[in-house]
Amino acid sequence: MELPQVLEPYIKQGVHSWTGEALAELGYDNFEAFQAFSQILDTLGAESGDAQNLKGPLTSVKILRQERSLGEQRRCYVLRERSKVLGLLTVGRKHLYYWHRGGGTKQLDPLCVLDFYVSDRAQRSGHGFTLFDAMLAAEGREARSLAYDRPSPKMLPFLRKHYGLQDYNEQPNNFVVFDDYFENGAPCRRTEVKSPSKSDVIQADAGRVVDIF
Ligand SMILES: CC(C)(COP(=O)(O)OP(=O)(O)OC[C@H]1O[C@@H](n2cnc3c(N)ncnc32)[C@H](O)[C@@H]1OP(=O)(O)O)[C@@H](O)C(=O)NCCC(=O)NCCS
Repeated sequence: MELPQVLEPYIKQGVHSWTGEALAELGYDNFEAFQAFSQILDTLGAESGDAQNLKGPLTSVKILRQERSLGEQRRCYVLRERSKVLGLLTVGRKHLYYWHRGGGTKQLDPLCVLDFYVSDRAQRSGHGFTLFDAMLAAEGREARSLAYDRPSPKMLPFLRKHYGLQDYNEQPNNFVVFDDYFENGAPCRRTEVKSPSKSDVIQADAGRVVDIF
C-alpha cells in the first residue's frame, strides 16, 4: 500500500513494530497520521484475513488496542520498502497446552505468530523472509522457539524453506509447536518478552535497522 506523506516521519524504511500503546500515542501526537496508518493497517489486516479464509481480520488498530492484546503484549511488525507498506506480522504471548505424541500435556508460554501477510503482488520475492527475520532479530528469538497459530498452506512451506522447520505433532488447539522447539534446551519456562520502548533501536543482521516502538 502506498504510504501517504503524512506518515513519512513515523514509518521509516525497513521493519518497525507497533503496539496498541504506540498507536494510541500516535493518535495523540498526530491524529491525521493515526487515521492514515489505521487505514493501512486495517486494510492489510483485512487482506490477510481474506487470504487465510478467516471470518474477519486478526490484525487491526482496534484489535491491537484491546485489553486482551495489551495483556498478550501483541505487537505488529510492518515492512516498508520505498514508498510502500508491503506486509505485516503480528506476534504475542499465549498460554498454551501442548499435547505430546505419547500422551500427556505440558503448559507453554511461547511467543506466537498470530498473523503474517505480504501483499499479494509482492509475495514470493523474499519480503516475507525480510519481515520475519527482522522480527526474530528484534525479539532475540529463533523461529523454532515460536508457536504458530493455524499456519496456512503458504506458511508451512515458508517455515520449511527458510528455517528448516517441518515436524510437529498436531494439536487440538490448532497451534503448531515444532519438534525443534524442544531441542537443545527447550524454552519451556515462561518466555521473557521484553517490553519494547518507543526509543529502542535494534541493529538487526545484515545492517538492517529495526525500530521498536
Ligand atoms: C506466508 C507469506 C507471508 C510469505 O511471504 P512471502 O513474501 O511470499 O515469503 P518469501 O518470498 O520470503 O518466501 C517464499 C516462500 O514461502 C512459501 N510460499 C509463499 N507463497 C507460496 C505459495 N503460493 N505456495 C506455496 N508456498 C508458498 C514458499 O516456501 C516460498 O518459497 P518458493 O517461492 O521458493 O517456493 C505470504 O505467502 C502470504 O502473505 N500468504 C497469505 C497469508 C498467509 O497465508 N499467511 C500466513 C498466516 S499463518
